[in-house]
Amino acid sequence: MHRIGILVGKQGRGSNMLAIHRACQDGRLDARVDIVVAPSEAAPAVHSAREAGLDVRIIPYPEQEVELPKALQGLDVVCLAGYMRLLPETVLRAFPNRVLNIHPALLPKFGGKGMYGMHVHEAVVAAGETESGCSVHLVNEQYDEGAVVCQRKVQVHPGDTPQDLAARVLEQEHLAYPEAIRLVLGS
Ligand code: GRF
Repeated sequence: MHRIGILVGKQGRGSNMLAIHRACQDGRLDARVDIVVAPSEAAPAVHSAREAGLDVRIIPYPEQEVELPKALQGLDVVCLAGYMRLLPETVLRAFPNRVLNIHPALLPKFGGKGMYGMHVHEAVVAAGETESGCSVHLVNEQYDEGAVVCQRKVQVHPGDTPQDLAARVLEQEHLAYPEAIRLVLGS
């Protein structure tokens, strides 16, 4: 059985984390979530993770460069879910082509620095796009620039608010992340 680590950010809601955990439990993935790492107890995902029976480690950002590679040792894949910052290079070196991130748009469109959360959906609506979606991609040293592993699309409806679009995209994120993990694990 493969072992997955999930990194969440300070504001992390943890819905992708739970979607990955569900996919492990219902057999879509031959894997288990071994550890969830958050930068602070205050991250909402910490509460949901514990409720779901997942192991949580709190590692504040300044300590992550040194502590993350140790905490993640032996895992098969590392998933960023609402991590929202560049990952320390120590982790990228320890997990070449094994770190995934999810982005709420169809990369390479609407990616890069500053393109996160509702900013992405605001930009998609403002640009008059007729479709959007989500992308799970490999993580490298640049924001949102690693190879795309899996994308799922949604329609942008006339009159959609960024919030409407965010909700429609999030449903697809929860399907795309387990699919991408399966592709990366090769099982
Ligand atoms: C998702 O929209 C994801 O695309 C982005 O951050 C959000 C995390 O949501 N990277 P959640 O914490 O998984 O609910």
